[in-house]
Amino acid sequence: MADLKKLFYPSSIAVVGASRNPKKIGHLILKNLIEYGYKSRIYPVNPAADEVLGLKAYPSVSSIPEPVDVVVVSVPAPKVPEVIEDAGKAGAKFAVIISSGFKEVGNVELEKKVVETARKYGMRVLGPNIFGYVYTPSRINATFGPRDVIPGGVAFITQSGALGIALMGTTIMEGIGVSAIISIGNKADLDDADFLEFFENDPNTNIVLIYLEGITNGRRFVEAASRVTIKKPIVVIKSGRTEAGARAAASHTGSLAGNIAFYETAFKQSGILFAKSVEEAFDWVKALTWNPLPNSDRIVVITNGGGAGVQASDTLADNGLLLQKPPKNLVEEIRKFVPPFASLANPIDLTGMAPTDWYYKAVYAALNDPDVDSIVVLYCHTALTHPVEVADAIMNAVKDSGGLKKPMTVALIGGVEAYEGIKKLTQAKIPAYPTPERAAAAMAAIHRYVKYREYVTKRLSYLGGS
Ligand code: COA
Repeated sequence: MADLKKLFYPSSIAVVGASRNPKKIGHLILKNLIEYGYKSRIYPVNPAADEVLGLKAYPSVSSIPEPVDVVVVSVPAPKVPEVIEDAGKAGAKFAVIISSGFKEVGNVELEKKVVETARKYGMRVLGPNIFGYVYTPSRINATFGPRDVIPGGVAFITQSGALGIALMGTTIMEGIGVSAIISIGNKADLDDADFLEFFENDPNTNIVLIYLEGITNGRRFVEAASRVTIKKPIVVIKSGRTEAGARAAASHTGSLAGNIAFYETAFKQSGILFAKSVEEAFDWVKALTWNPLPNSDRIVVITNGGGAGVQASDTLADNGLLLQKPPKNLVEEIRKFVPPFASLANPIDLTGMAPTDWYYKAVYAALNDPDVDSIVVLYCHTALTHPVEVADAIMNAVKDSGGLKKPMTVALIGGVEAYEGIKKLTQAKIPAYPTPERAAAAMAAIHRYVKYREYVTKRLSYLGGS
């Protein structure tokens, strides 16, 4: 098992190739590192400069007055072996190699040479062909992606660089807080399993999201993922699900995307939630990172529109979750304020004339009913109410119930105003979506995780592994 402590809690970081040119990658990484607030020592390395971004520059890693823990390398690929040799000799512990031009374009030998050199000195390598890494508890943003990553519980490991950078932006837009972002690239040395092992016991991480093209060591991956699943969920977006996608992946990071049936089996064994799209993955991550887990499957759907309720019921049923009759007490509570023609089976239909305070009362009652395990709230925008006011009502019900003690997802369905409401709920860490299907599918992912965790726990204890 790799000891990654010094990668995530380094005493010092050097940036090799810290260019003076503000448009170059090495410069941008140094800038992010400084501006995101890494508090320990930062050393720019550039033989052509005396100073970069106000920090004294060194001509080489070995000329820095202390052994550094992490060396971020952003010089052209042919220069990387000599940088690694120098950094290794100087006692660096981790090399984070940004440079492209290795296995992904056929330069297998160059990549091998880099890893062998690092090994000689006991140094571990992240990359090459990556955009860097983030660890918010240490205020490290050693990437050339967006700077203001939101701290939170999601650890994101990505094999795709550009898509990963773009998704960093998505986390900010969606208000999703991250503990770590790891661009893993060619995985010449450290791979997904090494990071899963770290996140398994990382108290700052409550869910792991992986964008995966291919696994190098299937067995080790399944073992590590299974152990993580017992403690926290893993969501995987697997690219290269089709033959065409697999071919594209091979020319991207040089990894074999392989037969999808193999991956499906591996994911099933390790209890991984397998998302088919980026949208689905982020929907689930939001629901899983902000919600507690349910005790059982007694889901209640609250709506003001029959159609939305049917769509949510169908999605839940597609996921093996059949709605049961709602608890008697809850029905009696809601009966007090809705018209007699309201259908209070499950979904509970507050009717199209529902004002915001009916939402408050219904959600409050469901949150406080011990016979309700989770709640899907649906709202179709009518002229009677404004979605932001409905969002406020839902937030107040949560607040007055002492916070989310059972999982809840919300769909506000409509136009621009509905999006305003979604944004407001998201800021309050209540997962909200624009369609009933997405809110229901996200809830289904939470319930599925509980079942997967149970299955993996049993499987490991049967094998004597836990
Ligand atoms: N040690 C330290 N610094 C060195 C050096 C060495 N041995 N040799 C050169 N440098 C300096 C250069 O002088 C330059 O600084 P300056 O601009 O102040 O003169 C800086 O390091 C960068 O070197 P340069 O040759 O200008 O490289 P570059 O910045 O144009 O490109 C990479 C370097 C790594 C960004 C580029 O080769 C690359 O691989 N790009 C792709 C990266 C990528 O996409 N990764 C995957 C993302 S998902």
